[in-house]
Amino acid sequence: MRSNRLAMLCSLALFVCLATAAASGHDKAIVAHRGASAYLPEHTLESYAMAYGQGAHFIEPDLMLTRDGVPIALHDRSLDATTNVADVFPGRAREDGLHYAIDFTLDEIKQLSVIERVDRNTRELVFEDRFPNVHRALAFRVPTLAEIIELVQGMNVSTGRDVGIYPETKSSAWHAEQGFDFEQIVLDVLGEYGYTTAADNVIVQSFEPESLARLRALGSELTLVQLIGGGAAYDPMVTEEGLDWIATFAQGIGPSMTRIIDSEGNWVDDNFLVREAQARGLVVHPYTMRADRLPAYVDSFEALLERFLFEAGVDGVFTDHPDLAIRFLRERE
Ligand code: G3P
Ligand code: CA
Repeated sequence: MRSNRLAMLCSLALFVCLATAAASGHDKAIVAHRGASAYLPEHTLESYAMAYGQGAHFIEPDLMLTRDGVPIALHDRSLDATTNVADVFPGRAREDGLHYAIDFTLDEIKQLSVIERVDRNTRELVFEDRFPNVHRALAFRVPTLAEIIELVQGMNVSTGRDVGIYPETKSSAWHAEQGFDFEQIVLDVLGEYGYTTAADNVIVQSFEPESLARLRALGSELTLVQLIGGGAAYDPMVTEEGLDWIATFAQGIGPSMTRIIDSEGNWVDDNFLVREAQARGLVVHPYTMRADRLPAYVDSFEALLERFLFEAGVDGVFTDHPDLAIRFLRERE
């Protein structure tokens, strides 16, 4: 009975969040993937602020923990691809040559400069035309979840908008192995800032259903989204039974784009995933739309957005280019 009520409340809250998007002229959610990461180094306050200014409806931080148990925004377990950690802390790598965030205190991590993502081995930019790593006087810092929330909530006051936060619990099982109750820690921070109920403008996402289950077991009423990767391990989720199961604990799914349209541009199983997820009351937010990594089957970012948002009928998208997605929606009104 309680879980039915919880599911109903969460669905209502998600409706309210999406209705906020509707108030701005459409009903699609634009999620700023790692901030405005096409323009500024990912997971920096600067990138989040830019995404906010571009009109994104949600800011997406990936979360990892520091050694002293503080949630920070970081995509990888290691700091190597997105900071200068090897220069600042020589000799602190593990045997595999990587510097893991969990081995560094927040105070130490705050001494690092965030850089545009590079290949960990070659140190070449992953996205060659994005923010260049030539800055020396300029230092971007790794933000904490608390700092991100204060930034977004502050701008919500100063602009009168209601932008949400869409955090991802990264490597949940791994954090448990390291001795941390990751989900409780994240809930504590969210709770400190008033995110406790299904009516609050936050969506927690994870690739690990156990992480979402842990959030529910801890009594969280927050809106949850199950991520669905493109690999075979996630295939059982892309079935009627799998979606039935997801609908028992989540209010939405975040599938890889390739779960909806394959690399040749064909509908996967006649748009099965979108149709069946939405039939179960789940919103669908695929990842990740990038204007500088277009699939071969489209010749423009707008064509990509058209296919997903209006032909497939998804409810929102994760994108590195929130400005282009917002412009697309406005021009399509
Ligand atoms: O969370 C949605 C999307 O961001 C998943 O991919 O690897 O960028 O976290 P990733
Ligand atoms: Ca993510």
